[in-house]
Amino acid sequence: MTSQSPAPAPAKTYHVKSFGCQMNVYDSERMGDLLSAEGLTSVATPEAADVVVLNTCHIREKAAEKLYSDIGRLRQPRADGRRPTIVAAGCVAQAEGAEIAARAPAVDVIVGPLAYHRLPELLKQAQTGRAVDIDMPLVPKFDSLPQRRIAQASAFLTVQEGCDKFCTFCVVPYTRGPETSRPAADLIGEAQALVACGVKEITLLGQNVNAYAGGLSLAGLIRALADIDGLERIRYTTSHPRDMHDDLIAAHVEVAKLMPYLHLPVQSGSSRMLKAMNRAHTRESYLATLERLRAARPDIALSGDFIVGFPGETEADFEDTLSIVRQVQYAAAYSFKYSIRPGTPAATMADQVPEAVKDERLARLQAAIAEASLAFNRSTIGRRCTVLLERPGRKPGQLIGKTPWLQSAVVSIPGAAIGDLVAVNIVGAGPNSVEAVPVSPPARESAAA
Ligand code: SAH
Ligand code: SF4
Ligand code: F3S
Repeated sequence: MTSQSPAPAPAKTYHVKSFGCQMNVYDSERMGDLLSAEGLTSVATPEAADVVVLNTCHIREKAAEKLYSDIGRLRQPRADGRRPTIVAAGCVAQAEGAEIAARAPAVDVIVGPLAYHRLPELLKQAQTGRAVDIDMPLVPKFDSLPQRRIAQASAFLTVQEGCDKFCTFCVVPYTRGPETSRPAADLIGEAQALVACGVKEITLLGQNVNAYAGGLSLAGLIRALADIDGLERIRYTTSHPRDMHDDLIAAHVEVAKLMPYLHLPVQSGSSRMLKAMNRAHTRESYLATLERLRAARPDIALSGDFIVGFPGETEADFEDTLSIVRQVQYAAAYSFKYSIRPGTPAATMADQVPEAVKDERLARLQAAIAEASLAFNRSTIGRRCTVLLERPGRKPGQLIGKTPWLQSAVVSIPGAAIGDLVAVNIVGAGPNSVEAVPVSPPARESAAA
């Protein structure tokens, strides 16, 4: 109950804050759709909102702490003596619903990632006491969500949820449930609706997106989506090395709208560590997959995720990680210190690595990744490609967009606007972006690269 807190304000406005992965961002958008359909208006900051949804992530320890510090701020009475209605959503709500209820009395609604289609109902319930739904229902939430309305050139589309892989460090199988795929026909419908809103690029999302099986394989779905007029670019993330099948590799050759970029996390360069992580691939099998890909699509840009300081990781194991970064020449990569997640097998493994060692390894890994990214960006100088313009740049007249290889490209094109797909030449490269100039005369192209 919320007896110690001031009464919530009447609900006219809302703000949804995402703490997590891209799927979490997609869920935030859909919760926004639901609240808009209820007549609430979206506002840019939590401070200005009557209903604040904190859409949490549980992947690393710090992620959960952010929830509690936000609740602490939000529960304070505002100038009018009221406080907002507070919704704890997402993966922390799923994994630690009971703990949130005990630790944060000001939270009005606790809702998991598989139950958020019930948000309007739960908000009504919360007027008389806290409402909780962390069930993992068999009825798919997607069927109960309103039509999408979005004003962006690039949009996310969740096609698959959950995970059956049970890597020993990871909470996702516990917070998002087993692997389930949305039916291809529903996804084609949602993609058509997005394109009707002006969307030009769709990124298909899933914790194991390449394990998609919704009547079509992921490659089949991509081919079907590529037939939608007005949709110019297709991407997908995150893929598991185990599910990188030949038909998907072939799609990278045959489907012009499919961008030449693949996020394929390896986690470690040491097969010994990969076994302890239960990753179902080795260093060698992972590299063999990349070889097949690069043979088919030589310009494909690769990215990955890495964990340093997994229990039992030795200096030699870590050096294997450094060497795989150098060998693969990633265009980009994300690196994390191993974080103990209660309830996962690795949490109780012997030989936990001291924090100072993790810090030192992370710094060395990040330096190696930065070097690889710079080398990749430099290797693209001289290429002609398209850029999908996304936001203004720092200097007047500059716009920033994405190349087919997901690089941020800074470009000045008189008359061009955000949302345009423009033809450019890449002329310069830094560690985090490339510089591009318009192909003259400025032309809009629909081809990928
Ligand atoms: N399904 C994807 C990744 C999902 S989680 C895959 O299998 O690759 C995103 C990333 O968070 C992971 O790739 C991993 O690098 C990192 N991660 C997950 N659990 C972690 C933990 N306990 N500590 C540190 N990083 C973790
Ligand atoms: Fe987590 Fe592994 Fe599943 Fe990825 S494949 S979501 S890292 S358990
Ligand atoms: Fe985090 Fe849940 Fe995504 S734990 S990474 S928000 S699936």
